[in-house]
Amino acid sequence: MTTPPMIRVVPPLQAESRPAQDQLLDGRTLIIASNRGPVTFTLEEDGSFSSRKGSGGVVTAVSAIARNRQPVWIAAAMTEGDRARAELAQQNGEGLISPPGDAPEFRLRFVVPTAESYHSYYNEISNPLLWFLQHYLWDTPRSPDITAATWKAWHEGYVAVNRLFAEEILAACSHCEQPPVIMLQDYHLYLCAGFIREQDPEAIIQHFVHIPWPDPDYWRLLPMTMRRSILEGMLGNDIVGLQTPSHARSFMYTCEAYVPGASVDYAGFSVEWNGRRTDVRSYPISVDTAAVRRAAYSKEARSHDRYLPNHWNEFTVLRVDRAEPSKNIVRGFQAFDRFLEAHEEFQGRVNFVAITVPSRMDVEEYQDYLDDVSAVVGRINAKYANVETGWQPIHMIMGENYPRALAAMKWYDVLLVNSIIDGMNLVAKEGALLNERNGVLILSEGAGAAIQMGDDAIMVAPADIEGTADAIYQALTMPLAERRHHADRLRRTVEDDDVAEWFRHQLDDIAARALGNAEVAAAEQGILDSKGSSSAD
Ligand code: G6P
Repeated sequence: MTTPPMIRVVPPLQAESRPAQDQLLDGRTLIIASNRGPVTFTLEEDGSFSSRKGSGGVVTAVSAIARNRQPVWIAAAMTEGDRARAELAQQNGEGLISPPGDAPEFRLRFVVPTAESYHSYYNEISNPLLWFLQHYLWDTPRSPDITAATWKAWHEGYVAVNRLFAEEILAACSHCEQPPVIMLQDYHLYLCAGFIREQDPEAIIQHFVHIPWPDPDYWRLLPMTMRRSILEGMLGNDIVGLQTPSHARSFMYTCEAYVPGASVDYAGFSVEWNGRRTDVRSYPISVDTAAVRRAAYSKEARSHDRYLPNHWNEFTVLRVDRAEPSKNIVRGFQAFDRFLEAHEEFQGRVNFVAITVPSRMDVEEYQDYLDDVSAVVGRINAKYANVETGWQPIHMIMGENYPRALAAMKWYDVLLVNSIIDGMNLVAKEGALLNERNGVLILSEGAGAAIQMGDDAIMVAPADIEGTADAIYQALTMPLAERRHHADRLRRTVEDDDVAEWFRHQLDDIAARALGNAEVAAAEQGILDSKGSSSAD
């Protein structure tokens, strides 16, 4: 990009009684950018467009809280329908697409990379490389192999698409009188803040990483140039948000290890580099409790209540996941196998219901993992199935159906969340909120949720099959009073800290930071009097 940086006269925020975040967003455009958009379009045969709400945790969380703030949402055109809708918008000169509905909660702008570039960015770099790295999923003697093809995908896919995102974001706020507030989401967009910063030094940029942040040693598997581009891109942000304090610390360690000239203040949780300060914060994500409850008792969810009990037994163990290798589904079934072997008295009386959503089927590792899951289920069911009673221990329910998953959560006796590592794990939170049977949570130490929920769950180390088998036994034999005590506390934990809090904390920090910046700018211009009175007082 060769255009000169944008310059604005930035007035300091005024002292007022309104919350700083309301002041902050007055007159400023809130921009949210994520790879997957909040809606996806389909071009119908009659030439009209229909739209469907986007799936996935990021979209659900961000749309839940953004709706009162009328953001501009920048997302990649992921389907043919999205591309066609973006093209129509361009032909009509529609700067922003308003999704159908009387009171759209956001306006949308699509980033439209070529199909090849998008494929490289999403299916070669973001998911198999970065997502695997950040979940410690590599079988390191064998993978990853960084080859000429990886570099091509990096430059023509990841770098190119991040540039396009930055350009769309800048275009969306080219007429803004005040610096916009930009909230970037997740691992697809690590280079974006750096690109935006080149053009707009005053924009307020925050990036929330929804997945774990590994230690510097593991990042070393990526070539230095990629590693450094990612970190330097991230240091274009005013604030970097991660799910837990330990991921926040890992981020700072990584900056210290690989960004020459970066100076880290571990006590103050910030990194100074290139004349700028990036604050590093943790914001544990949660669910929209009201919306989750509404969906769990909706007409559609109730329609599943009619047949789901066919899958229940005297005792029911449940798991709900995307079929991602990080979810550790295979070891969960192996643990159930060990439990049935060790406690024959439970055979015939307990079902393990696994609701599994196929995911990223274009990525080979995901296809292989789903094959492994199917194979272990077949083996265990063949081992225990009782032809006389018709009992089979594992019931797999495949397919994406959110109301059905929520409906199932009301019934479990045990919820198994044994992920290898997870940024947070919202299933643990949804289950705790909805369950009506004082169900016990078995939770992996690797899930970010362990920090908030670990005291009231049975904790397991993710590779510990024997320990997970014991945990299933302990959960199924826990006295009712104890189960109730923990289930009540888990529910309150989720109710007290829902997704609105997650968003509010981020906006508070953004506002505080903007307030600070404005004060500094004002002080530099001699606007503040010698006492330095300001809106922060
Ligand atoms: C997982 C990750 C999220 C991520 C999402 C993207 O759920 O935990 O952090 O944003 O995948 O999913 P998608 O289906 O859009 O690739």
